[in-house]
Amino acid sequence: MFNMISSQASKLINLTKPTNKPSKTKIITITSGKGGVGKSTFTANISYLLGKRGFKIAVVDADIGLANMQVLFDIKPKLTLFYYIEGRNTINEVTSSTSFNNVSLIAGKSGYQYTSIKNSLVLSRIIEDIKELNIYDIVLIDTGAGLNEYVQEFLTVSSNVLALTTTDPSALTDVYALMKMLSMDEKKLMLCFNHTRNYQIGETIANSLLNLAKKNRLNPNFMVKYIGNVSTSANVSTTSRLRKLFAHEFANDEITKQLQRVIDTLLNDIK
Ligand SMILES: Nc1ncnc2c1ncn2[C@@H]1O[C@H](COP(=O)(O)OP(=O)(O)OP(=O)(O)O)[C@@H](O)[C@H]1O
Ligand SMILES: [Mg+2]
Repeated sequence: MFNMISSQASKLINLTKPTNKPSKTKIITITSGKGGVGKSTFTANISYLLGKRGFKIAVVDADIGLANMQVLFDIKPKLTLFYYIEGRNTINEVTSSTSFNNVSLIAGKSGYQYTSIKNSLVLSRIIEDIKELNIYDIVLIDTGAGLNEYVQEFLTVSSNVLALTTTDPSALTDVYALMKMLSMDEKKLMLCFNHTRNYQIGETIANSLLNLAKKNRLNPNFMVKYIGNVSTSANVSTTSRLRKLFAHEFANDEITKQLQRVIDTLLNDIK
């Protein structure tokens, strides 16, 4: 089911070839396959740390149906991405500022019904419109669980794909399905392990996934880049529940340092 890019997504490949206008904006889509691995928490925290480094960041909450970024940022945006999708507002108008320096949010809307026929081309337009603004250095697109058609479309239109996973076998099975899908398009996959205390464990598993890809003769030009690990801490979920960001509240914690190391690698790797 996952080893074919949807026909709509593949049509978008042509539509999303870089436009003539140069833009400084780099797009990273964060995905996982398996739900609940920590994508939204990770995305919110790295957006804060990137903003603190001086990068202008827009976070797009692309989790259809279960928008929760505004909760993590503790804001109540009046307009959401779906006002834009429905053609009522510009992308700029649906962008909200957060209380964190340099970080803006394009919020999602819980309960929104996605109909691909109506919206598939809109997804590539979101990216093009944000790029055209040329305000943001980096756009982080937080997708929901699963590799459904909607998530695939976002992966297709992003130059950079970051998979967050755990060492859980079902999460790794989903990462491999993602690798199969992306390898057809020769996209590189950046791989980060959450709930993983040891850097080397993530590295070893990333190498095993690559060996499996070689054994199964996935496209040899497809690359997986391991970008680091993030440990588990009860303080991560506690800060989220309190609508605060862990990296802001625990700036000197080992987890924040791990996130900083992930960002160092990420910045070297994105295009
Ligand atoms: N490193 C961590 N340590 C402890 N708890 C974590 C960590 N990362 C995430 N969590 C917790 O795991 C839960 C799920 O996280 P989150 O909502 O970010 O996952 P998700 O991948 O975005 O889920 P979904 O697939 O539903 O969008 C939250 O309660 C969050 O606080
Ligand atoms: Mg999420």
